[in-house]
Amino acid sequence: MATKYKEPQEKQCDLAEPHAASMSESLRAFGYELPSAIADLVDNSIFAGAKNVWVDFNWGGENSTISVTDDGCGMSEERLINAMRPGSRNPLENRDPKDLGRYGLGLKTASFSQCRRFTVRSKTGIKKSATRCWDLDFIATKNKWLLLREAGEKSEIYFQRLSNFGQGTTVLWEQMDRVVKGQNVDDENHKRFFHGRIEGVEKHLAMVFHRFMEGTGRLKIFVNNNKVEPWDPFLKSEKATQQIGDERIMHFQKDIKVIPYVLPHISKLTPEKHVRAAGLRGWNLHQGFYVYRNERLLVPGDWLGLSMAKEEHFKLARIQLDIPNTMDQEWEIDVTKSKARPPDVLRKELKYIADVTRKRASDIYRHRGRVIARASSQGYVFVWQQKAKHGKYFYRVNRDHPLIKQALKTHEKIVEQLLRMVEETVPAPLVALTNSEDPDKHSTPFEGAPSKEILDLISQVYRAMVISKVPRSTAVERLRVMEPFDSYPELVQAFLEQLNGDEE
Ligand SMILES: Nc1ncnc2c1ncn2[C@@H]1O[C@H](COP(=O)(O)OP(=O)(O)OP(=O)(O)O)[C@@H](O)[C@H]1O
Ligand SMILES: [Mg+2]
Repeated sequence: MATKYKEPQEKQCDLAEPHAASMSESLRAFGYELPSAIADLVDNSIFAGAKNVWVDFNWGGENSTISVTDDGCGMSEERLINAMRPGSRNPLENRDPKDLGRYGLGLKTASFSQCRRFTVRSKTGIKKSATRCWDLDFIATKNKWLLLREAGEKSEIYFQRLSNFGQGTTVLWEQMDRVVKGQNVDDENHKRFFHGRIEGVEKHLAMVFHRFMEGTGRLKIFVNNNKVEPWDPFLKSEKATQQIGDERIMHFQKDIKVIPYVLPHISKLTPEKHVRAAGLRGWNLHQGFYVYRNERLLVPGDWLGLSMAKEEHFKLARIQLDIPNTMDQEWEIDVTKSKARPPDVLRKELKYIADVTRKRASDIYRHRGRVIARASSQGYVFVWQQKAKHGKYFYRVNRDHPLIKQALKTHEKIVEQLLRMVEETVPAPLVALTNSEDPDKHSTPFEGAPSKEILDLISQVYRAMVISKVPRSTAVERLRVMEPFDSYPELVQAFLEQLNGDEE
């Protein structure tokens, strides 16, 4: 029979409380970057019902500051003291379904990750504001969790924004050793570097909180008074974006929502839209699942350990996945809210959804080739053709391409031998490797070549078609859809204008 557990008495134990000096320093190492630390403060502002959040960077060399102010519900003095406590709430507690928090740590860990001193001032509209300040050096001197009741005298100017509102909160970071250590206020390079970090923060907030900012009357975030425009990873307002489903997965009576999107082919976007859609990390890294918890983005594109690599030809696949905050344990959500891992039982279903989306994305990625093939019913527009034999791929130069055809006609043996040699030695593995390591780095056909070289080639191919009795109007149409001239419509046009001029 199992022995019953008998709870030990206090007198049988030693008290081993954490040392304030060392513990407070350890709170700094939660793995935040500056943008994710600021996002953690914005989480709190959003749950406090803020309609506006201002992030202000103030340059002052080593005395630079960053503050986050909101017009949310604010905190009473009592609530503020509790909010400043590391572990202000038990992670096991049930949270409001809209709460973006979990651990009762974010305010402290995010702030300490960037600075040695942070001050919070808050007001609820009923009483005057309350202020509390953690200073790591002061804690270290006393080795006690002593929370200061005042902001530093010189810090008052940073609370001016808050004084315009009846309610709200400002979190002020000072002594930002992780951001501006050793920086000189008069050094222009140092100043530029500090301001350069603003852009990264703006982009991060635009991405993480885009769903809160989309639509009128929604949350507004300002970074140094510039309004942050939401970054929608799915380009939902583009006509060519395809939503290929709307799935609900039940997991222990909790609802997970999955909406797979395939983004438009590059030819369907303006260059500006294409660049913006690439996001902070670039097209290739931004493919995969976008995990949202209460509409707040945790993971901006990842195949979630489903044994799927990020490949160039899947880069148009982006899948929205929504989880409620009741699944934090199952999804292994951490304090920084930048990781999520699906429970094992969901892997099969998620993999299936990912497979279908990736297949569609790869079809669209190769769309240009298919459009060309459709536009010309005859198969001689491609220079290269992929073939398969006994389950192995190999590459052949298209003998029906007008230029090849003409060359074969005049010097059949040597041209055929040359083609065979080139075909047999195509460095396909090297090309594939380079493409996966360094996507978007292969030059396109005739990239950077002088227009004259391409025009001469167009002219040569046109003549080859005419010689082999292709009607002129058909030859013109084929030129437009033929590789590599389909990438140079303006040169084909120039050639045709010249041709018409010569014929007149
Ligand atoms: N800007 C704010 N406005 C109103 N209340 C706030 C604000 N910031 C923090 N709080 C209060 O302080 C508490 C502690 O915040 P903190 O970020 O440390 O933990 P959390 O949000 O509860 O959980 P997590 O560690 O997951 O972020 C919050 O639960 C909230 O009640
Ligand atoms: Mg929080």
